[in-house]
Amino acid sequence: MGLKTLLKKKIYNFKFFKKKNSEIKNKTILITGASSGIGLGLCKKLIQNNKIIAICNKNSINLHDKENSNLISINCDLTDINNYQNIEKVILDNKIELIINCAGQFGSNNQLINNIDFDNLIEILKLNSLSILKILQLISQNDKMKYLKKIINLTSRAGSIELNDKGNLYIYRTSKSTLNSISKNLSIDLKRNFGTSTITIDPGNVKTGMNQKGFLSPEKCAEYLIDIICDNKDHNGAFINLLKKNLPW
Ligand SMILES: NC(=O)c1ccc[n+]([C@@H]2O[C@H](COP(=O)([O-])OP(=O)(O)OC[C@H]3O[C@@H](n4cnc5c(N)ncnc54)[C@H](OP(=O)(O)O)[C@@H]3O)[C@@H](O)[C@H]2O)c1
Repeated sequence: MGLKTLLKKKIYNFKFFKKKNSEIKNKTILITGASSGIGLGLCKKLIQNNKIIAICNKNSINLHDKENSNLISINCDLTDINNYQNIEKVILDNKIELIINCAGQFGSNNQLINNIDFDNLIEILKLNSLSILKILQLISQNDKMKYLKKIINLTSRAGSIELNDKGNLYIYRTSKSTLNSISKNLSIDLKRNFGTSTITIDPGNVKTGMNQKGFLSPEKCAEYLIDIICDNKDHNGAFINLLKKNLPW
């Protein structure tokens, strides 16, 4: 890592110097994208005091204590929207109170106007944007919405229409803008009908499989996400970053 990047990283991490001690206890929490990156960071922090339903794709969840009785691990390819039977079963058997939706992919390398990979665009739309809608539909159809208090959707600044000053990235941007639209809609609809809050969060620049040169550790990111979830302010309907600053849609 060059000196300039190292400096940038230091400055970036300085914004998160405060240790956040908020804790979530005795909740049933469904986490998508739980097998790696930010989702795994959250699982590690939450597993001790909560029941975690970890939705994984191909990789299984890599916790030290895999036999932990607080963990239910489900494998499901979330692009396969009509094949969520595993998830439906776990919804039926549990009262899910919090969903943290971390599953996502950046998409194909072909995201320029002259080479957009449309098949991949559709797959990424299913994963990044529609999968949460499908999970919530299953919760609703099985009369379990009344238990759900909060939904956290991890989006990206790249999904903000107003902040876009670089262009390109048609697949990732489209999928995250769509997620933002769905998330905002949920914050109105589910709040009105069930009192459920929906918060749309840009996790920032986090070092994960998706962003290997990221600055912030997934554990630190998880600490700040938990702080938002525990905040006295509800944040329903907001699009915010880890420092609770509002971002333009
Ligand atoms: N890292 C950043 O800097 C950053 C910045 C802005 C936004 N975000 C957002 O934060 C979220 C988490 O990303 P991350 O950085 O933690 O990336 P990551 O480490 O690559 O994690 C992505 C997760 O999504 C899961 N996933 C991928 N394809 C799936 C599929 N078809 N079905 C089910 N699950 C699938 C992966 O599961 P497997 O490992 O089992 O495939 C993995 O657990 C994403 O929505 C991302 O867009 C990240």
